[in-house]
Amino acid sequence: MSEYMIYPYPKLIVPRPGMLSIKNGSTVAVDAINGVATDELKATAQAFCALAHEALGFRGEVKTRAEKDSDPIRLSIDGMMKAEAYRLDIDDRVTIIGGSRSGLWFALVSFLQLMQSTPRHERPAVAGEPRAFLVPKMNVIDEPRYKWRGSMLDCSRHFFPVAVIKRYLDLMAYHKLNVFHWHLVDDQGWRLEIPNYPKLTEIGAWRLGDSLNGRPYGGFYTAADVGDIVAYAACRGITVVPEIEMPGHSAAALAAYPEFGVAGVEHSVPTTWGIHDKVLAVYKSETEQFIKDVLTEVFRLFPGKYIHLGGDECPREPWQSDPACARFMAENDIPDLKTLHGRFMTRMSQFVVDAGKVPIGWDEVCDAPIPTETWVAAWRRPEFGVAAAKAGHSVVMCPSRVGCYYDYKNLDDPSEPGNLGVCTVDDVGLFDPTDGVPSEFHDRIVGSQGNIWTERIEFGRHLEYMAFPRLSVLADTLWANRHDWNGVGQTRLTGHLAKLADLTVRYYPGPWERHADNG
Ligand code: ACM
Repeated sequence: MSEYMIYPYPKLIVPRPGMLSIKNGSTVAVDAINGVATDELKATAQAFCALAHEALGFRGEVKTRAEKDSDPIRLSIDGMMKAEAYRLDIDDRVTIIGGSRSGLWFALVSFLQLMQSTPRHERPAVAGEPRAFLVPKMNVIDEPRYKWRGSMLDCSRHFFPVAVIKRYLDLMAYHKLNVFHWHLVDDQGWRLEIPNYPKLTEIGAWRLGDSLNGRPYGGFYTAADVGDIVAYAACRGITVVPEIEMPGHSAAALAAYPEFGVAGVEHSVPTTWGIHDKVLAVYKSETEQFIKDVLTEVFRLFPGKYIHLGGDECPREPWQSDPACARFMAENDIPDLKTLHGRFMTRMSQFVVDAGKVPIGWDEVCDAPIPTETWVAAWRRPEFGVAAAKAGHSVVMCPSRVGCYYDYKNLDDPSEPGNLGVCTVDDVGLFDPTDGVPSEFHDRIVGSQGNIWTERIEFGRHLEYMAFPRLSVLADTLWANRHDWNGVGQTRLTGHLAKLADLTVRYYPGPWERHADNG
């Protein structure tokens, strides 16, 4: 048996002698205890069966209660365990105990990967012949190193249908990633339906550039789509973090409602990339009310704890041309545009805090003082994350130049697709979220995420090529309690790639070598 059959690497594996045979059509029995809704646990077990079917042709039958000793796979919850922790015991049957529904999912993924170790030619046919999956007996005790193990997907620059998002969530969940940061709003498209502001999606979701047969390019997610995605993610241990970008990157919103922008400026949904000067007029009370209304709908749609407010790359100069801005600053004793900007982000963050949620912003939110309840996603350089941690913020360390931007090329080669930079698999393997962070601040680094901007990514298969295996390697760093890229980390990844192939993942195959200009 290979020690490396589970990826990310688990905390502890104790091998037992022998193999357990799991027949196709086996029951997966869920014991509901400690008040956790049975339907939710059942949905998680069914999500496992769906993924195992896709990967292996395995058919599992989910039951709500273990009745017979013969049920080969049994799941239960132990509320005393940490929420994301699990125990997986494979002996004469499979006993899985999770600290929560998430812990159960992570155990099931580990178990699926062990089932995948049955060589392809020995696996049961989908039609269900009696041969079985042979799984090595063992005891696994596992829990993650970091609590924030994420990926951001930009759905503004290109719009990805719900089916593509679900596939992405499946592949994240297969790596025990737990945060889907959904970038829903940017210059080139507003993607979330807001009933009180219908023009956001009637106008703001469509652009005339890259038009298809003369029709505008675009699309948006309805409340029903969001509910579907949020529930799908929750079954798989993933929380969805919506991002409503402000006050920059707001051209699509302003094409719909120019009254929330700088007076006298013309707007349309841009068809070019980059930083635009179409920014929200942060000094207008009606702009503030607009954002509060949008956030109120976001709170209703997204049950998760975290709300991302963007906050990056906002030019302030456009405000200077509006007499209303100067008037507002004089009346409120605001000395400069930076303070004005910071005041707006602070007020919006406070609105999120008052709703009982946690606001997050890109690291520019620290350019002016902002309360420490706001978490900071450090994307420019790790130093911005270190400064935020020292100032008392919790930090998601996801620097663009150091291992976390997967829209960048995999290799510095003209034939590779990618945008703006290079980030090799090796660069990801060498990255650690606490690099350069003084040890007394390590506990403020909550984790990391792989960010995928989609100016040049149009389709789901291309997205997979950009995401994997870079996101696999990041997931290993964030979960495993070891960081061994130059030891056996690369060997473990090679074994894992064969498993990704079972899921027909169109991953970048290599070479992986380090990009000399980074770091
Ligand atoms: C960013 O990449 N502008 C957060």
